[in-house]
This record gives sequence, structure tokens and C-alpha cells, in this order.
Amino acid sequence: MSVFHKLGTILIKTLPPETAHKAALKALSFGLGPKRVCKHDNLKIKIAGISLPNPIGLAAGFDKDAEVPDAMLAAGFGFVECGSVTPLPQDGNHKPRLFRLPEDLAVINRMGFNNKGLDNFAKCLRRRKGQNSLKKDGIVGANLGANKDAKDRAADYITGLSALWGLADYFTVNVSSPNTPGLRDLQGGDALEDLLGRISDARQKLTGDAPSPPIFLKVAPDLDFAQIERITEQARTYGMSGIIVSNTTLARPEFLKSSYKTETGGLSGAPLMRMSTRILNEFYTASAGKIPLIGVGGITNGGDAYVKIRAGASAVQLYSALVYAGPSLAAEICDDLAARLKADGFTNVSEAVGTLSGQ
Ligand SMILES: Cc1cc2nc3c(=O)[nH]c(=O)nc-3n(C[C@H](O)[C@H](O)[C@H](O)COP(=O)(O)O)c2cc1C
Repeated sequence: MSVFHKLGTILIKTLPPETAHKAALKALSFGLGPKRVCKHDNLKIKIAGISLPNPIGLAAGFDKDAEVPDAMLAAGFGFVECGSVTPLPQDGNHKPRLFRLPEDLAVINRMGFNNKGLDNFAKCLRRRKGQNSLKKDGIVGANLGANKDAKDRAADYITGLSALWGLADYFTVNVSSPNTPGLRDLQGGDALEDLLGRISDARQKLTGDAPSPPIFLKVAPDLDFAQIERITEQARTYGMSGIIVSNTTLARPEFLKSSYKTETGGLSGAPLMRMSTRILNEFYTASAGKIPLIGVGGITNGGDAYVKIRAGASAVQLYSALVYAGPSLAAEICDDLAARLKADGFTNVSEAVGTLSGQ
């Protein structure tokens, strides 16, 4: 990390968390983010038909309104997921709603899908496409959510797909945020079947004869193996392109030290690593490696990314670690991961996927 970016990261950490996040987005939008090229041939990988220059992605929630995807790609991320975006703009929960737990390298949030809505999101992606028409590299996904007051939540995901079709390189159906009451119910039984059936129908109509962009399902880490088996089976039945494991957890491990540990919301960052990786590996087992998985939760370094890949992830994502290390972290993880693969005799990252069973 350059001295300039080191200083920036230290300064930003002195601000209250949400102010710091806004300041970081502003700086990135002014082109002040790090510029790093991750040139490691052994990190190139294809997942659900999309080619990634490296498997380190930015998780949803950092860039909710698709304001800085290119700045994050320039910092070294192999792909960037913007959102969650809901059809209508919404303010989210009352502040304070974002807490740093520095002693635990963790974050608790109860943001509640604060975002500027689909129209604004589409405008940002359209502008980006216009700017990049000559140089269209960089994978940018759209993470879709549902409005808190929606009568038919499943319909909100279809609205999102329709509005952003052709503008995003992939979609994520996020049914796992803990801060919209009842949203996680969509992960279970008939509700999931209804949702996935409607997504599959919409996808067919939107695609026509052209190839469809991948559509992933993002799940919570608070699931047992029976739920994991059911979700996997339904995801395969309805042709979902892959599963993102996982969102934040409602659990509070006993080892947390920070005074904010009892705040309501989803816990993310280092304390989520073990739990989300165990669930990821259970999804890998349940699907016999047949459905692509993206591993997210608690990654703070190259070693963590490597563990997720060996547990079954074809790509990974992170967010909370950026709060402590800044956006240069993506490139540092790439360098470390590339070296680890080489040291273990893997010529490409795809060879390492799922090579550790029984996490
Ligand atoms: C402040 C904050 C906001 C988030 N917002 C979203 C969101 O809008 N949609 C979503 O799918 N995940 C959201 N997440 C979850 C992350 O995408 C990720 O799944 C989770 O934080 C675990 O990864 P991490 O430990 O690397 O942060 C959010 C996380 C944080 C910390």
C-alpha cells in the first residue's frame, strides 16, 4: 500500500463508520483509490460462464448504488458486486446502524437496504457502459433486494432483473439479509420454490435466443444441513447459476471482545470466517461440486481466500476487511494467493477448488 493510501485509510478510520464509508466512496469516485493490476495467470478462472482475471471479488453492500465499480476493479478486484438495490429508493434503518468491532476485526450492521433505487442504479450502469464501450473489461454484478414494504417480495426480484437486464454481467438474488424482517423466510420451502420458479420464467422471457447472464442465489450462514440440501436441490432444479455463501450472521460467537458485540444486526468480518466456510463446504458436499459456489465471509488475507477455495469456492468475495485494511487489500490477497497455489503445485486456481473436504 502506498504511503498516501496508508494515510487515507488511517484518517478514514478516525471518522464514525458511516461517515467514513461515504468519504471512501467520494475519494474513490474522484479517482483517488489505489491502482493495482493483478497479473497472475494462475488466478484466471471461469465461473458460470464468466471469465474472471482473478477470483477476488468485492461483496455487496460496499457500493450499494453502483457509484464506484470501476474504481474497485482498478484497485485489483477481479469482479465487483453492486447493491443490494431495491425497486424503490429507501432510507433503511435509523442511525447508528453500522458498528466497527476493531478488537475482533469485525463489523455489525443493520443498514436495512438503504439505497437510491433501481432507476438510479440503472442510470449508473448505463453511464459506465457508455464510458467503457471501447474497453469493456471488468465484471460488474447487480445484487437484487426487495423493498421492506413490498406486498409481493418475489415480484421485486423480477422487477430488478427486468430493469437491469443487459446492464449487469451477472445477478444475485439476495434472500439472506437479516435486516429486512422476514426476508430470510424466502430461503425456505414453498417460498423459495415460488421465487425460483418465477425467476426461471422471467429469465426465459428476458433471454429469448441470447445467452443469459448468470443468476446466483445468496444465502445466510445460519442454516442446517437439511436446509442446505433443500436449497441446493431447488437451485439446481430451477437452473440457478450458482450460490453465494454467505451473508452476515445473526450468531454472536462467545470469543467476541468488542463492547458493540450485543448490537442488533448481521455480524461480518474475521469472526464469520470459520462458520461461513463450514457452510460453504456443506453446500459443496450437498451439490457434489456440481453447482458453482462463491465463498464470502471473514476473508482478511490470502490464506483465508485459499481456505475458501479449497473448501469449494470457485471465487470469493470480501467487504468487512476493507474497513480495516483499505481497498489495496484485494491486490495483496491476489499476490499471496498466487504464491500459495504455486507453492502447493497447482498450475491454476481451478485445480484447487474443493480440494479440502470436511472443513
Ligand atoms: C455494512 C454492510 C452492508 C452490507 N450490505 C449488503 C447488501 O446490501 N446486500 C448483500 O447481499 N450483502 C450485504 N452485506 C454482506 C456482505 O456482502 C458479505 O456477505 C458479508 O459482510 C460477509 O463478508 P465479509 O465478512 O467479508 O464482510 C453487507 C455487509 C456489510 C458489512
